[in-house]
Amino acid sequence: MNTPITTHKTLPGPAPIKNIFQMLPWLGEIRKNPLTNLMSLHDQFGDTFLLNIMGDRQIWTTNPHFAREMLVKQAANFQKDAGYTHEHKGLARFLGQGLLTSNGDFWKRQRKLVAPALHTKRIEAYAQTMVDYTHDHIQDWQHGETRSISQEMSSLTMRIVARTLFNLEVADSVQMIYQAMDDLQDYAVNVQFSPFPAWLPTPMELRARRATHDLAEFVYGTIHERRASGEDKGDLLSMLLLAEDDEGNRMTDKQAHDEILTMLLAGHDTTANTLNWTWYLLAQHPEIETTLHIELDNVLQGNLPTLADLRRLPYTLQVIKEAVRLYPPAYSVSREAIEDTVINGYAISKGSVCNLLIYGLHRDKTLWHDADVFRPERFAPENEADLPENAYLPFGNGPRICIGNSFAMMEAHLLLATIAQGYELSLAPGQSVEMQPLITLNPKGGLPMTIQRRQTQLMSEPAAMMLA
Ligand code: HEM
Repeated sequence: MNTPITTHKTLPGPAPIKNIFQMLPWLGEIRKNPLTNLMSLHDQFGDTFLLNIMGDRQIWTTNPHFAREMLVKQAANFQKDAGYTHEHKGLARFLGQGLLTSNGDFWKRQRKLVAPALHTKRIEAYAQTMVDYTHDHIQDWQHGETRSISQEMSSLTMRIVARTLFNLEVADSVQMIYQAMDDLQDYAVNVQFSPFPAWLPTPMELRARRATHDLAEFVYGTIHERRASGEDKGDLLSMLLLAEDDEGNRMTDKQAHDEILTMLLAGHDTTANTLNWTWYLLAQHPEIETTLHIELDNVLQGNLPTLADLRRLPYTLQVIKEAVRLYPPAYSVSREAIEDTVINGYAISKGSVCNLLIYGLHRDKTLWHDADVFRPERFAPENEADLPENAYLPFGNGPRICIGNSFAMMEAHLLLATIAQGYELSLAPGQSVEMQPLITLNPKGGLPMTIQRRQTQLMSEPAAMMLA
């Protein structure tokens, strides 16, 4: 339970939920549709409000100034909260002391260690692998067939992150990893609402144990193999295993496991969902899809994209940036105050948890013109100066900003260019798409889409061969 908050200005919000009889129907409602419920509280109480559930006080905000104070200016007054770090109810149950779930000096040291592998210069070397894997992945897509695009994007991005950062080919394990990650997300979201203790073998708990076991077996196997080979492959795996602290101690297997699993989870599911929502939005907006195709056909002339092509594909990037605005894969981030502080006139006492609803920030009608409309031109170079300040934060901000942001944007850019030049995806007949906010923002139901090969007018000989 958090320390009570004393406020300068009183935080608005719904009446406190005082007992279990009030809580159960409320929980039922919020579980069914968390984002819609949070957005309607936002509409009712304004951009910053307090939820008090049986004394557990949670501040929610979509205010850009609050975001900047919490994530950047006053970052030293905040740390990752129990939602990340709790060993039973937080992501740390699976990711241990990995980069996403650790705090303080420990986090700082690990961040320094991982950063070089994701530096802009370094990741350029990954471009070719990203395109090759994508080209290979879509080879068995058949004209007219329907596939779960979530599954396709997830297995593709998983294979790419494993190959680029760890020199691992995970094609044979991809189904196990996909299932385990799914169970893990389900657990992380629903455990907060579960009245049962961890030792009780509920079906959700059993699935979580199985997922932990399967993933651990896979990751420890990888660590042992690399240690046994004694090889320095120059990848993130070798960097982690060979790093030494000031006393010359190497990282333990457990810590290496936590970092590897963190990168595999954080590094694939977010990018997969970026692409999922992009495909969904393109299917709803044929005029935007046509503009995208024209750019791809003219620039690539049917060839596979290279790193050098990316700067000549600005509209493709705008499409991705706008999709991520409307459907931010990391739709919310949270922090616990470790000092008493004040933001926007609200006193925030030590121990309070503040949640930044990035989804709400990106759709705030007072900040964005036609906030709910898909309009990639917002991100055209000539319009970028007009974007509302501190209101576009798909990768967070401040010292804990996403370490993989350049990797992710380059990957999404290359993958969209590679696939959209050859294929057009439309929602399978009778399908409608809802949001499913797990750890990341997923399309519910796996996003079944029908695949059609494109006929491009500018198709060159190599392209025709590629698509044949
Ligand atoms: C479009 C794709 C992505 C999105 C939207 C995204 C979003 C985010 C956000 C919002 C955070 C900050 C969390 C917070 O402040 O609590 C974060 C952190 C992180 N991301 Fe990403 N991410 C993406 C891709 C990636 C990729 C490709 C990798 C790795 C290759 C990655 C690795 C991480 C890690 C390790 C952290 C924790 C960093 C730290 O706390 O120091 N992410 N991500």
